[in-house]
This record gives sequence, C-alpha cells and structure tokens, in this order.
Amino acid sequence: MLRTHTCGELNANDADREAVLCGWVATRRDHGKLIFIDIRDRSGITQIVFIPKESGDAYIKAQELRNEFVIRVSGKINRRPGNTVNQKIPTGEIELLVKELEILNPSLTPPFEIEDDLDITEEMRLKYRYLDLRRKKVFNNFMLRSSLYKIIRSFMDKEGFIESETPILTKSTPEGARDYLVPSRLNPGEFYALPQSPQLFKQILMVSGIERYYQIAKCFRDEDLRADRQPEFTQLDLEMSFLDEEDIFSLLERLMQTIFKELKNIEIKIPFRRMTFEEAQKNYSSDKPDLRKGLGGDFAFVWVYDFPLFKYDTEEKRWVSEHHPFTAPRTEDLDRLEKEPEKAKGRCYDLVLNGIELGSGSIRIHSQQLQERVFNIIGIKKEEAYKRFGFLLEAFQFGAPPHGGFAFGIDRLLALLAGEESIREVITFPKTQKAFCPLTNAPSAVEEKQLKELGIAIKKHKN
Ligand code: AMO
Repeated sequence: MLRTHTCGELNANDADREAVLCGWVATRRDHGKLIFIDIRDRSGITQIVFIPKESGDAYIKAQELRNEFVIRVSGKINRRPGNTVNQKIPTGEIELLVKELEILNPSLTPPFEIEDDLDITEEMRLKYRYLDLRRKKVFNNFMLRSSLYKIIRSFMDKEGFIESETPILTKSTPEGARDYLVPSRLNPGEFYALPQSPQLFKQILMVSGIERYYQIAKCFRDEDLRADRQPEFTQLDLEMSFLDEEDIFSLLERLMQTIFKELKNIEIKIPFRRMTFEEAQKNYSSDKPDLRKGLGGDFAFVWVYDFPLFKYDTEEKRWVSEHHPFTAPRTEDLDRLEKEPEKAKGRCYDLVLNGIELGSGSIRIHSQQLQERVFNIIGIKKEEAYKRFGFLLEAFQFGAPPHGGFAFGIDRLLALLAGEESIREVITFPKTQKAFCPLTNAPSAVEEKQLKELGIAIKKHKN
C-alpha cells in the first residue's frame, strides 16, 4: 500500500504514531522556517509540516511544491499546540511532521482554485470537470448519487424486482421528444434510435414473465434544455405484472420514505396526498402543484392522477396521447373512447415533489384490440402502428399479462435532495444548455471517410 491512512481519518488518538499519507497539495503556507501544507484526498485534509532540522531533505524538496501536486509523505503524528487546533475539521487536533517527501506528480497551475465558493462560468467548470470534481461540494453530489443507487438497488431487490438492461441501439420509443439517431454502417441508409426510455422493452419483459423489472436506465431525448432537462439523463425505470395503481403508489411511497430516511434522515409521511388532474388545475392552475407552505425545507409529495387520455393537437389537427399510447383507459371510459375522446381518462399518474414532476407511469393496455383502437383514435393507422411498434403488438398476442409501471428522474430527485437548482450539478459529466460537452468538445465534425462508410453526405447550410 502506498499509504497507511487517508487524509480525513487521523485524530488526537493517533498522536506519536507514524503515518504515510498520499494526496494533493491543497494549500501551502511558508511561515519563516516552517512550511505548512494541507494535503487533500477524497476523505478530507490533514495539515503537514516541514521543519528544517527534523525534515532534512524533505524540507528542501517541499519548497518546490505548488497547489495540486500529488505527493506522498511519511512522518510522525503530533498533537497541535492548543491555540493552533482547528475545530472545523476532524483532523484539526493533529499535524504530520514530515520526515520523507516524494513528489508523485507535479501539476500545472489550475485555472481556478479548488474551493467551494467560486465565481467562474459553468463552461469553465465543465471544461475542467476533473478539477471541479475535486471541490468538496461537487464531490458530495457525486457521492450522493452513488449512495442513492445503493439504496435503490437494495430496496428493489428486497421487493423481488429483477435488474435488467435493455438496448441502447434500438428503435424509436414513444415518449414524444425528438430521437437521437445513429446511422448503421452495415445497413446503409438505416438508423437506430437511442431510447427515450426503456418503455417498450420493459413491457416485453412482462410478456416474458419477468413480473417485476427495474433498471437504472440512461434515456436520450433531443429536446430544448432547461435546468431540469438534459439530453441524456437517468431514470429509475420499473414495471410490474398483475398489479393495480395502489401497488405502484405503495411501492414508490415506501421507496421515497427509505431514500429520504437513509440519505437525509428525514421522515416522510406516507401515504402521499392524491389529487385528480382536474382538482390540480382548478386549485393550483398546474398539473404539478407545489403544496409547501412558504419556503421551509419541506418535501411535499403529491400524486396527480385521472389525466385525460388524449389531448387535441391544434397544429396537427388530431388527438394525441397525453401520456403515451400504451396507457390503459379507465374501464368506465372504454365504451366512449371513439365518441367522446375528450372525456376519456387514462390510468396514468404523476409523482410531483415541490412543484417538480419527479416521475410518471401508467397501467398499460395489454389487449391487442384495445391497443389498435387507441392507435386509431390518435391517427396511427394499423400499418404504421405495425411498422413502429409491431414487435410489441405481436408480443401481446402471446399471453401478455396485465401490467403497469413507473419511471422517475433520478437527476431531478438528486437535485432536490442536494438543494441544487439545476440537474447539471448532480450529473458527473453534464452537457451545457446547448447540449455541448466542454470537456470533450462533443458534438464535433467527423472525418469524411467515416461519413462515406455510412453513406452520409452533409449538406452545407448557411447559418
Ligand atoms: P416520462 O417521459 O414522464 O415517462 O419520464 C419520466 C421522468 O423522467 C424525467 N425526465 C427527464 N429528466 C431529465 N432530463 C430530461 N430531458 C427528462 N425527461 C424526462 C422526469 C420524468 O418525470 N416511459 C415513461 C414512464 C412509464 O410510463 O413507465 C416515461 O419515460 O423526471
């Protein structure tokens, strides 16, 4: 091992022992003959001190040290004199008197200080994201995601869910945004679409008899970006067979309760409030009502349900699905779907937290005939429906069980948990508002040869 301890764990109980630490030079102070350095790793910082008589060659070498050099030091742990104790950090009662110093790697002068309060542009932070991630605040968000995944996986496992991956190179899914397309070299002129969600595959897994599926899934949507939207984002996606709405509500409520308790030690009361779409519109003029009082630290969850099944698209002059076309109508509306589509309600539900849509889901249609009726109402002809979703409709003819599910935006939940305005703060390598990655410069032009192989020609268009 290169080190005996991390930089965050030594305290007064370790006084007079020897230790070896590795980390980055965080700050450097020359006090006449003494050199003080804070050495940082992901666990915290320890003050190390170089004294000419005791540190020997290490003292001379320490004069070369600059911020962000990677070093390895060994020496003796000393209690700090009373008036120099730093109560603000866990290692504040001790310091390491260095006997040996090894420079593992020098560093260029970083373009910004590794400090929590920084006034620099987001573009700059993302270009040097590896340095930005060294900042405690940013790193804590990164850790929060890792802890959340662990809680989710353990909860879903206990509830009998099977984790399964679904393809990324696939066909268009019906979430209503623009698709990201990937050209196929082996099938010239044809394209895969990146999934807007694993919707169709998870329904197929129900036909397979999986019964309970979940996935921490990457989704891709080419839409205008906002603080709570990224072109690629992460959902907790799940689907269940032989269920009704109450099973979904109860599962999600218990999951949220567990997450808030384990991550924030906050008790969330369940069951959550429920409100029909109509009530929400009437009383809050929104389908994402914010039920807090004032601006407390509160977390106010509410289920919004009984959404219209269809809405009229005035541009396209046709009915479209409010959720997606696989959402089951309420049983009492089955007879009037064609006659009065405006009155039909869907068996879908949104989970709203503090005025933000966390997730949504529905009980699905599992009968092929009903699915065809719904497609017909939204103007998708049988041939077109088969062209787009034929594989699902075909699967439905082989004993599809009643099923339904839900997906929530993990990035949105994390932003709320971390008290961040934008989901970009909780995504390790996010894109800017213009869907650009300043670290890698993606998207970027590709070589003519690659385009040729794909049979693609770029039309030069004037900006
Ligand atoms: P929906 O499209 O409502 O449902 O998406 C579910 C949740 O995903 C999050 N989300 C996003 N987060 C960040 N950036 C985006 N661009 C973005 N788009 C969506 C939101 C949203 O509530 N397949 C269905 C679910 C189902 O029916 O089971 C679906 O994807 O938090």
